[in-house]
Amino acid sequence: MEEANADREILDTIEEAREFLRQQAGLGLTDLPKVEVSSPSLVSRASQLGAFHDSIRDCQACRLCKGRRTVVFGSGSPDADVMFIGEAPGREEDRQGLPFVGAAGELLTRMIESTGLRREEVYIANVIKCRPPGNRDPEPDEVASCEPYLVQQIEIVKPLVICTLGRFAAQALLKTTESMGKLRGQVLAYEGIKLIPTYHPAALLRNPQWKRPAWEDLKLVRREYDGLEL
Ligand code: URA
Repeated sequence: MEEANADREILDTIEEAREFLRQQAGLGLTDLPKVEVSSPSLVSRASQLGAFHDSIRDCQACRLCKGRRTVVFGSGSPDADVMFIGEAPGREEDRQGLPFVGAAGELLTRMIESTGLRREEVYIANVIKCRPPGNRDPEPDEVASCEPYLVQQIEIVKPLVICTLGRFAAQALLKTTESMGKLRGQVLAYEGIKLIPTYHPAALLRNPQWKRPAWEDLKLVRREYDGLEL
């Protein structure tokens, strides 16, 4: 709690400094020393994520805000080395405000545990933060407005390994239209971070024959995690 208060004070001070610089610039005083005010290392990742979450709780950037109950931000450890990324919240996630809490979430927990990690020590998020009506596929403009939120989460958490769940997340991060069959089974990269695509747990529930290759992908996650110099 004390750490959270200290972080809040730092964030407030940074915001005050920003406001001061904005006022000076408004007065035409642009000849100021260049100061880097965003100094994230001073503030814990938990506080950065908390502040970021607060800033998008009422997001109205696309039409999905109309049907959602909650912006489903993410869950898990802000200091995680491994991040799992899905597509978009479903009904139960929208109700509870947490990612992967429905049937697919139960399988995801088992998938994470198969790597020897616990769900609480990884970070889980989706490309899209609001439930698409009837769980339809997100539209390209919805992805365009929401994806920067995921990018910022990745920048704050700084995972060393990302495991994307399903075609949608892999294609969004890798900017590709390749099929899941072509993408999975290998270690790719997103902005210098190792990225391992695997099947979405909901797809595994419908197609149990994909579980074996998915478990191979999760072994890859473990292997890459073991290879990290922590
Ligand atoms: N499917 C997803 O892609 N994400 C969730 O949070 C739940 C189901």
